[in-house]
Amino acid sequence: MTLTFFIRTFGCQMNVADSLAYARVLENLGCTPAESEESADILVVNTCSVRAKAEERAISYIGAVSRRRAEFSGDTVSADDRGIAFVGCMATVRGEEIKQRFSEVRVIVSAREIDSFEDRILAAWPTLSASVRSTDTTAILRSVEQFERFLPVVRGCINHCTYCIVPAARGDWIESLPPSGIIEEVDNLIRSGVKAITFLGQNVLSYGSEIDHSSADVPPGWESVRPDYGFADLFADIRDRFAESGVWFKFLTSHPRDVKDRFIDIIANDPSFSRHFHLPLQAGDDDVLKRMGRGYTSAEYLSLIANLRSQIPDLRLTTDIIVGFPGEDEDAFERTMEMLRQIRFDAAFTFLYSPRAGTPAEKWADPVPRNVKSERLQQLIALQNNIALENASAKVGQTRRVLIEGPAMKPDDRGRSMVAGITREEEVVVLEGDASDYGTFVDAELIGAGLRSFTGERIQGK
Ligand code: 5AD
Ligand code: SF4
Repeated sequence: MTLTFFIRTFGCQMNVADSLAYARVLENLGCTPAESEESADILVVNTCSVRAKAEERAISYIGAVSRRRAEFSGDTVSADDRGIAFVGCMATVRGEEIKQRFSEVRVIVSAREIDSFEDRILAAWPTLSASVRSTDTTAILRSVEQFERFLPVVRGCINHCTYCIVPAARGDWIESLPPSGIIEEVDNLIRSGVKAITFLGQNVLSYGSEIDHSSADVPPGWESVRPDYGFADLFADIRDRFAESGVWFKFLTSHPRDVKDRFIDIIANDPSFSRHFHLPLQAGDDDVLKRMGRGYTSAEYLSLIANLRSQIPDLRLTTDIIVGFPGEDEDAFERTMEMLRQIRFDAAFTFLYSPRAGTPAEKWADPVPRNVKSERLQQLIALQNNIALENASAKVGQTRRVLIEGPAMKPDDRGRSMVAGITREEEVVVLEGDASDYGTFVDAELIGAGLRSFTGERIQGK
């Protein structure tokens, strides 16, 4: 008997990577991908807690999908075998509540327990058997994932930014994968045809910092690793092993406080490494930064950017900004605007502050009305969109190597078939092509710039 599964993912790239791992587990248990979320025997909902809106979206999704699933009249194995596995950050924070509220939810797996996903599924679906091994684990890959993969190397965060639920949800801990395991996984991915790998962590630069090499019980895989082994060492090892492979290595997210010269040097001196830094600024005012617990001042952030730009001329810089943190007044907001004008990020993810239960900032006085905050957010987005478009326009005429990932959203206005790809620095480029291009590198000239993507033209003879 075969059960079918469907995975719905909310949230960040870490969740996307985890969902792929869950899909592998389910396929290894003999399950097959379902046609739809209604028909799936096992529906996995992988959730995010970072902002209240993300939680609301997941809750309304579960409500709506449960109703549609109850009405589903197509083929299913048996009603007894249908259920929802509720996983991810929200499962940690509100798992039990969700289980009470939605009767179809039969499994909760928190973000800290991803290793027990298989056991939990087996306990809830006893008809499945761990001894069934499927051979084809690629059926669930989207075309993009065949060529570009996320690899979580460190989980959790110990930074304690005062607005952030991640330490509460993912736990006040970090856990790094041993270097040997990562190298093996990278080797496997390259052999399977993957052309770009993004190393992931809430703060990827915290990699290895939890390992106490002097203790008697060093975690498995770390016994022979030298003390102080960190993310820069990992990338140096990746370079030594895989620089010839032509594969791109990217990384996400970097805490500005932890970017050190040695790391910059490794990135600057090897073309395998992406020159894209995602460096969340969050705010431009020193008092706000201090109360956020970010560990840097605006001047320190600016000097980091100057240092990066002097060593990496083709740097691409993106950021996260929170508008409306408790106590952020007009002047403080204006200082964030000024930082954006000065730094000129290539893109910024902008958020309205969302008070999260259990975080220190939740309890702080917050006199600025919501409509004022929303207006400021719109102002900031308008400014940043202008800057992003100007930066992008200035790149027209430059050439890029593009990894073609799949079809573009639509043909161009002359009806030509178009494909979309990504550069080493995560720029999206749309150009003429067809399915035979998927998974190949193409050299292109950037001929048009938009807010989210470029149009490109193949350089002939390549
Ligand atoms: N409210 C608004 N934005 C938040 N972020 C994290 N927590 C909150 C919150 N409580 C944003 C930060 C972070 C990004 C992933 O989400 O900018 O970098
Ligand atoms: Fe949250 Fe700060 Fe950690 Fe980012 S660095 S996950 S914002 S605590």
